[in-house]
Amino acid sequence: MSVFGPVLERARAAKRVVFVTGAGISQESGIPTFRGEDGLWRNHDAMKLATIGAFEENPGLVWEWYADRRKNILSALPNPGHAAVAELERHVSVSVLTQNVDGLHQRAGSSEVLELHGSIIRTRCTSCDFAQEIPSGLPGSPPLCGCGSMLRPDVVWFGEELPQEVWSEAMSIASGCDFMVVAGTSLEVSPANMLPLQAKRNGATLVEINPDPTPMSSEMDLAVREKCSACLPELVSAFESRN
Ligand code: OAD
Repeated sequence: MSVFGPVLERARAAKRVVFVTGAGISQESGIPTFRGEDGLWRNHDAMKLATIGAFEENPGLVWEWYADRRKNILSALPNPGHAAVAELERHVSVSVLTQNVDGLHQRAGSSEVLELHGSIIRTRCTSCDFAQEIPSGLPGSPPLCGCGSMLRPDVVWFGEELPQEVWSEAMSIASGCDFMVVAGTSLEVSPANMLPLQAKRNGATLVEINPDPTPMSSEMDLAVREKCSACLPELVSAFESRN
């Protein structure tokens, strides 16, 4: 019996599936989450590392912290959870709305991935429009743009707005889906945590995949208390058996 049993028929009837993902889906690739027992924010102060004020006060510290995380991410591999999300595209239309900055959905082969919180692989200028993937060996900590200003990681920090085009497209995709899987996110961070309710208001079935409950668990049609890599492949099997 599939863990998706209670929503299996609705999954099989789905035309547009959307995943809202967070750090939990990459945890099994060896990338730490933010909250919970081994979460980064347990031992690191987010206000000293992930705000524009922190960067202005101590750019070297912030740059190095992101450089260390980037190194870990670039040596990590997508896991069976990411692979299942990518695989599902063979059976149904799939969009991925991710809070992750690690690029692992794309590396697993997902073709429509909206990065709500940017990418740790990219850098952008603090003054001009310059942006690029971070080449290895860029000198300086942080390195300087051609215009003379500092480069920063192209991620969304606390207190900053999400890239507006990405956000409005994400809301529109959430509104248009009929089946949403919320996987590996604590749903503690706004506005990304509005996406499930937006989908529900428009009639979508909501499924949460998380070993622990979240503040929105009671809104879900089904909560699967397992790790992503243990159960996402089962979702693919449910779609395979409808073909
Ligand atoms: P969190 O660290 O807040 O939440 C991760 C969630 O994943 C938790 O609810 C865990 O229970 C769950 N989890 C852990 N391992 C899992 C697994 N193997 N399978 C499924 N679930 C698992 O991460 P996010 O929700 O992504 O933003 O955090 C959102 C934002 O807050 C991040 O993008 C980041 C952070 O501060 C910024 O840095 C701006």
